[in-house]
Amino acid sequence: MSPPARRGRALGRVLIAEETLGARVRELGQAIARDYEGANPVLVGVLKGAVIFMVDLVRALPIELTTDFIGVSSYGGGTRSSGRVTLTCDLSIPVAGRDVLLVEDVVDTGRTVSYLKRSVEARHPKSVRVCALLDKAERREVEVAIDYLGFAIPNVFVVGYGLDHAGVYRDLPYIAVLDEA
Ligand code: IMP
Ligand code: MG
Repeated sequence: MSPPARRGRALGRVLIAEETLGARVRELGQAIARDYEGANPVLVGVLKGAVIFMVDLVRALPIELTTDFIGVSSYGGGTRSSGRVTLTCDLSIPVAGRDVLLVEDVVDTGRTVSYLKRSVEARHPKSVRVCALLDKAERREVEVAIDYLGFAIPNVFVVGYGLDHAGVYRDLPYIAVLDEA
């Protein structure tokens, strides 16, 4: 079978290789397992970008846990956030009294994670923390704590390992920079 046709802009350099991602996700899993052992936390994956990170992370977590997903959208197909966050899919279980860990692909302006934290906090969980694969701290507009971080990255638009540009490139096993040209 020939590789799928790629639409959208050309790929630039690989920023984080597949092996590097795998090793870091296993380290995050160990750190989270230490902190949440016996707590049966609810890991909430943020649709759609964090799906691939989430499935690798839960398999690196040797503890009892619950999974759920929440959907938001803030990008209208461009590489700049519109700044407006809308809920496209809500949690499927109550989280009152539970330890919630939001699992996000990348924290950019911080608006999405800050919105999600407020939305989850309104349901009276025992705790809410954030695990993000990538952090573009340079772009921050809203302060938000990242409790577990995979990689700090520069201010570039990246795709792969779940992250897309206009719906394309989520399936790449590594993280690449989208060509600026
Ligand atoms: P924020 O609300 O500006 O922090 O944006 C966070 C969301 O924007 C993330 O959940 C991603 O879905 C998306 N995003 C931000 N930067 C990138 C990127 O470089 N590639 C792909 N998606 C991104
Ligand atoms: Mg996202």
